[in-house]
Amino acid sequence: MNLFAKTFSSLLLGASFISCGQTTENSAPTQDSGNDAASAVIENIMSRRSIRKYTDAPVSRELLDTILNCGINAPNGRNQQAYEVKVVDDPASVAYLAENVNGLYKAPVYIFIANDSNYDASMIDVGLLSENIGLSAWALGVGSINLGSPVRVINESPELLAKFGFSEGYHLCLALALGYPDETPDAKPRNKEKVQFITIEK
Ligand SMILES: Cc1cc2nc3c(=O)[nH]c(=O)nc-3n(C[C@H](O)[C@H](O)[C@H](O)COP(=O)(O)O)c2cc1C
Repeated sequence: MNLFAKTFSSLLLGASFISCGQTTENSAPTQDSGNDAASAVIENIMSRRSIRKYTDAPVSRELLDTILNCGINAPNGRNQQAYEVKVVDDPASVAYLAENVNGLYKAPVYIFIANDSNYDASMIDVGLLSENIGLSAWALGVGSINLGSPVRVINESPELLAKFGFSEGYHLCLALALGYPDETPDAKPRNKEKVQFITIEK
């Protein structure tokens, strides 16, 4: 069994001990308060918040390996995996980006994702990849946030963009910050009227 498989087995085992039902708690779920795997998944989804303040604690490469493997195991069109993912966790590089890119919250890890601009569904692939990253991280006690503003900043600077080494035809479209949360933000309301059951007339 490889490192990811071992770690993910532990994750699933841990997840099966997370509590049932929706939660109003605003921190990552603990792994000692329940016994139902489905409820654990739902609690993980419903308790996730975007995190904008992180502790200085690094995220281990072992955890990042699990999180990134969960990311690339998201569904994606034709399994083309029409993205490139660049991970920055080297402290000097992280500090450089935090200082030079507006909108990048201070965090120990940044992830930058580019989509293949020749495939019309590649942005959807990136969204699903990113959500798997965010949810698996949250299950492991690691917070994250999707970031669009810094992407605009980087894309406006050819010199900065070149530092990431994305392949020809790939377009930087999303950044994430990751780290251990140093805040417990409240849930933001959602509009349930966005979802409607409909019937189709013959
Ligand atoms: C594509 C995308 C881009 C985002 N860009 C930013 C951003 O630039 N800055 C920021 O503070 N939050 C950003 N967010 C986070 C959203 O503001 C956040 O997801 C939303 O307010 C809902 O809050 P929640 O994630 O805690 O449920 C972005 C989220 C997504 C999905």
